[in-house]
Amino acid sequence: MNAPIAIIGTGLAGLSAAQTLSAAGLDIQLFDKSRGSGGRMASKRSDAGSLDMGAQYFTARDRRFVEAVQQWQARGWVAEWNPQLYNSHMGQLSPSPDEQTRWVGTPRMSAITRALLGALPVRFSCRITEVFRGEQHWTLQDAEGCSHGPFSSVIIATPAPQATALLAAAPKLASTAASVIMDPTWAVALGFTSALDTPLEGCFVRDNPLDWLARNRSKPGRDTNLDTWVLHASSGWSRQHLDMPKEQVIEHLHGAFAEMIGCAVPEPAFSLAHRWLYARPAGAHQWGALADADLGLYACGDWCLSGRVEGAWLSGQEAARRLLEHRQ
Ligand code: FAD
Ligand code: NAI
Repeated sequence: MNAPIAIIGTGLAGLSAAQTLSAAGLDIQLFDKSRGSGGRMASKRSDAGSLDMGAQYFTARDRRFVEAVQQWQARGWVAEWNPQLYNSHMGQLSPSPDEQTRWVGTPRMSAITRALLGALPVRFSCRITEVFRGEQHWTLQDAEGCSHGPFSSVIIATPAPQATALLAAAPKLASTAASVIMDPTWAVALGFTSALDTPLEGCFVRDNPLDWLARNRSKPGRDTNLDTWVLHASSGWSRQHLDMPKEQVIEHLHGAFAEMIGCAVPEPAFSLAHRWLYARPAGAHQWGALADADLGLYACGDWCLSGRVEGAWLSGQEAARRLLEHRQ
């Protein structure tokens, strides 16, 4: 019997690969350094309800992903979000409606990865620090010094900077991952006891410390008494203020929000900040996934394609496809 396949990372890319391999009858074992699944699609449970601090919504353009999303919709994992969209440019706020279908997880973004994970075997709070190959099999080492294995193949489904060290056994793949620059994003959530007097529910922002804002509770299925908002800072501002204390980040972004939203903004009853160090790849790539099929080492993630939810899913599919192809 073949040894199982290790998958490092339970974001959408890792789970996309896991689903396909598991459906093909292969044994897999997932690992994640966090306490739960979702990665950058995680939602934060808080006193103000659950808040999507990472991915805000997603679009589906590739036929394969469109089909997957339709199945998720039929199972109640996702729903369409039709926000009143605005644009803010040079301080000018204007409505910016369009025909694009936008999806969100229900009742929170992390519902998707939670459902995909289902009963698959996983170890959380387990940060893998080393991936090495013996004569025939792979062994993983974690930050606590424990070994895991043997595995027949390993799929690394982490952001590129975290994948680089884990790919040391395949220097070409490691140097490709090392070439990917990933930009940070500061995310702030604010909750107000009375609803802000604005019809705005989502806004693309330019020329501002902010990049995007969303009325979190305008998304389907969100349950909260507060008027909750999620603000994302631009990559440039986030990089410049990478080590700023959270309270100051909240103060700055609250200020920028109050200045651009065009209505009175009181002190929030609730606030929190989260720093995404590796939020998005600085550019798109066409790699699909990275593979050294003879070794049995693969890497996938949004950074192999478009830096979006769709790219993460497609990259996981590609890693699984290449692994299955090699086994035939
Ligand atoms: P991740 O979700 O990052 O998953 C990687 C996983 O690996 C994580 O769970 C992590 O804990 C784990 N991990 C890392 N290192 C280790 C290790 N050494 N050992 C064990 N586990 C490890 N996309 C959109 O399409 N629409 C949006 O609106 C959107 N907005 C975004 C806003 C923000 C602020 C951010 C941060 C991202 C946004 N994205 C958006 C991008 C989207 O979230 C990502 O493209 C997608 O979630 C990436 O999935 P992934 O599986 O490739 O990586
Ligand atoms: P999309 O088609 O809605 O947006 C793509 C881009 O088109 C937007 O960033 C915006 O600049 C522009 N745009 C779209 N509709 C618009 C409208 N009605 N008015 C004005 N501008 C509009 O979605 P897609 O292609 O799926 O992209 C996902 C989103 O995720 C993007 O907004 C992207 O910036 C964001 N993202 C954010 C990350 C972060 O770290 N903050 C990381 C990865 C993605």
